[in-house]
Amino acid sequence: MRVRLGVLLSGRGSNFLAILNHIRKGRLQASIACVVSDTDSAPGLQAARQAGIPAFFVDPAGRKRGEFEEEMVACLAGQGAQVVCLAGFMRILGKRFLAAFPGRIINIHPSLLPAFPGLHAQRQALDYGVRYAGCTVHLVDAGVDSGPVLAQAVVPVLPDDTEDSLSNRILEMEHDTYWRAIRDFTENKEFA
Ligand code: GRF
Repeated sequence: MRVRLGVLLSGRGSNFLAILNHIRKGRLQASIACVVSDTDSAPGLQAARQAGIPAFFVDPAGRKRGEFEEEMVACLAGQGAQVVCLAGFMRILGKRFLAAFPGRIINIHPSLLPAFPGLHAQRQALDYGVRYAGCTVHLVDAGVDSGPVLAQAVVPVLPDDTEDSLSNRILEMEHDTYWRAIRDFTENKEFA
């Protein structure tokens, strides 16, 4: 059985598109049940519509977090999503959402966690002066970028790196790491 992935994103969606590409190339035995975004103008949401994938904007404005999360869960459950992949989703998930997909929410972060959680991880790495950076795929818990690690990949930090050049090198690695982590996490598992 192909696992049905629900993707949450807030922005450009390059990780979502990389996962989709690997599915379409037959490397990842999965399907994307739907894409859900908290940002109406997210390019990733538009890309999902163009790819023919059910895409939902859930408006967080002026609502309690639980209510907003309930609507996201309803979208995902309505499309039969079994595992949730965060791909540039810029919100911390609360109890309501975590309880709906226990142990089945995955995130990718552009640093070698536990180093540099939170925003601007690449800038944090440059400011600190580390020689190696990278990305981490991990299970999501109630903390910020803090759940168990599923996969990591390393890239060097070069002497003349800018935040952009380092971010691009890491992003390329993210695109090759996320789908493998999803494959390893989902294979040989039954999801109801
Ligand atoms: C990526 O760097 C990811 O690690 C982080 O947010 C960024 C999303 O980029 N969580 P994209 O929208 O997938 O292009």
